[in-house]
Amino acid sequence: MSSQAADLSIRGVSKQYGPTTVLDRVDLEVAAGELVTLLGPSGCGKTTLLRAIAGLVTPDSGSIKIDGRDVTSLPPHKRQVGVVFQNYALFPHLSVAGNIAFGLRLKGMDAKAIGATVALYLELVHLGHLAERPISALSGGQQQRVALARALAVQPSVILFDEALSALDRNLREEMQVELRHLLRRIGTTAIFVTHDQDEALTMSDRIAVMYRGRIEQYTDPKTLYAAPASLFAMSFIGQSTQLRGEVLGSPGHGMVEIKTALGRLRAAANFAPGSPVVVAVRPECIGLGDAPSTEVNTISGRMTAAIFHGAHSMLHLAAEDGERVVAQLSGGHALPAEDSDISLHWPVAQTFVYPAAEAA
Ligand SMILES: Nc1ncnc2c1ncn2[C@@H]1O[C@H](COP(=O)(O)OP(=O)(O)OP(=O)(O)O)[C@@H](O)[C@H]1O
Ligand SMILES: [Mg+2]
Repeated sequence: MSSQAADLSIRGVSKQYGPTTVLDRVDLEVAAGELVTLLGPSGCGKTTLLRAIAGLVTPDSGSIKIDGRDVTSLPPHKRQVGVVFQNYALFPHLSVAGNIAFGLRLKGMDAKAIGATVALYLELVHLGHLAERPISALSGGQQQRVALARALAVQPSVILFDEALSALDRNLREEMQVELRHLLRRIGTTAIFVTHDQDEALTMSDRIAVMYRGRIEQYTDPKTLYAAPASLFAMSFIGQSTQLRGEVLGSPGHGMVEIKTALGRLRAAANFAPGSPVVVAVRPECIGLGDAPSTEVNTISGRMTAAIFHGAHSMLHLAAEDGERVVAQLSGGHALPAEDSDISLHWPVAQTFVYPAAEAA
């Protein structure tokens, strides 16, 4: 049953549509058996990159290798790449089994082997009991599984998913994410997901490639991406962050900067010339209430303009005169200060991220 998982190597792939650069010298290395997500906002080029891997889009430049073989100019059916599209693209006039058998017939498999393979993959996606059902009589989640079984049954060495789960409701989607990850691991296939849903990316992936304007901004494992976003875009796109504009005053020590903000002076590990305009970003859950004087900690003070109760946690807003503010997330048990009172907030210098202000444009 196991497909031959392949590695994938994308080097310098660019694609232009008219005046628009949709892919801008994209490099991406995916190991055999790895689960990778392309994550980014609408229009950043995710589908185009996926289509280039599948052979449905020809890059203007660059190369794509699967298992060391250059497939850049090969047609889709010679690449051993499977694709599961958002709309599943199932054949509505065929049964569940008929949909899965279709690709096997094209491969020239004999009838007996087809029957056994269809049964095997239907079992894998828990649809054995629905083999003879017409596609039109299936729920969205069931159709999703048929699309998956159909793509896996031909044993592609790389399988691509373009927003394949986004049509499902939240509960089913979360269930399918866990199940699909498990299934792909079991089969040991290489998979690339495309999504703009950060939770899906964090759940499914060994590594996430954050895409923005046709470029890959950061490519790393989910924990590193969350803990150390390489750009303001990555910081803003994954998880929550609170941001303050500032200006670098100078370097109090090696690899450290001191930054002037509307809420006070902050320190961070970074290298910027004095006078540089920057954006300081912090995860709200890294912020604590009160001050904690230490060179390892940043403390700010000001007026608390809002305390919003969310059940398990509360969000505290601390604002400066000019409207700049920091939002802290405090866990449920905290007694909240009264609105309009003066408060202090603190967080570790190590959790203070600084980016060039130009990235905020
Ligand atoms: N065939 C085409 N001709 C012209 N422009 C195109 C073509 N295909 C895509 N584009 C443009 O390329 C850009 C990237 O499109 P793409 O479909 O790759 O985005 P995406 O990241 O998948 O977005 P979404 O999350 O909305 O699906 C968009 O601006 C889109 O309009
Ligand atoms: Mg898309």
